[in-house]
Amino acid sequence: MKKIAFLLFTLFLGVTMAADKKILVVYYSRAGENYGVGTIEKGNTEIVAEMIAEKTGGTLLRVEPAKEYPAKYDDCIAVAKKELAADARPEIKPVAQNPEEFDEIYVGYPVWWGEMPMPMFTFFEKYNLKGKTIHPFVTHEGSGLSGVARLKKATGANVTAGLAIYGHVAQNERDKARKEVEKWLK
Ligand SMILES: Cc1cc2nc3c(=O)[nH]c(=O)nc-3n(C[C@H](O)[C@H](O)[C@H](O)COP(=O)(O)O)c2cc1C
Repeated sequence: MKKIAFLLFTLFLGVTMAADKKILVVYYSRAGENYGVGTIEKGNTEIVAEMIAEKTGGTLLRVEPAKEYPAKYDDCIAVAKKELAADARPEIKPVAQNPEEFDEIYVGYPVWWGEMPMPMFTFFEKYNLKGKTIHPFVTHEGSGLSGVARLKKATGANVTAGLAIYGHVAQNERDKARKEVEKWLK
């Protein structure tokens, strides 16, 4: 009997502690023309970010560059290449949440030239996330889970095993993408 009472108590404690955790889903994503999907109204990474927020009850936070990237794919590729080479820190718009106030942070981005888009570096350099838990997720068209090494370096966080989803799957095969998200979250 005592054993059962103890088990129930620990279960209760576990559930309340999990419910108290503050979760943030921060991401960058770009609408417009992109590889393999044509011109889209909602970015691939944003679709995945929304799925994660829905499942975890996390708060969504979108990182927005002060100057949007070109809608044309070829133009965007060229700008992003230059920014990566220059290790640029493009200005971003003020955000509504301070990531330092969250316990667990999901970080999503499209892989750009094998790395995280530079506005994400601008964002992370504004905050101290050392020792926090970050779960990275990316959308890509072949590179897989890229950019995580620099994400670790930029944040000093404990970065867990990430999720990589093809952009065209997130955009056009949402049930498949949702299943991948749910499997990863477990
Ligand atoms: C500037 C730029 C660079 C890209 N570089 C890569 C890359 O190196 N590897 C890759 O697999 N996909 C690359 N892609 C494809 C994107 O990662 C993919 O389309 C992603 O799903 C876009 O997400 P978004 O709609 O959230 O912006 C690139 C796309 C752009 C626009």
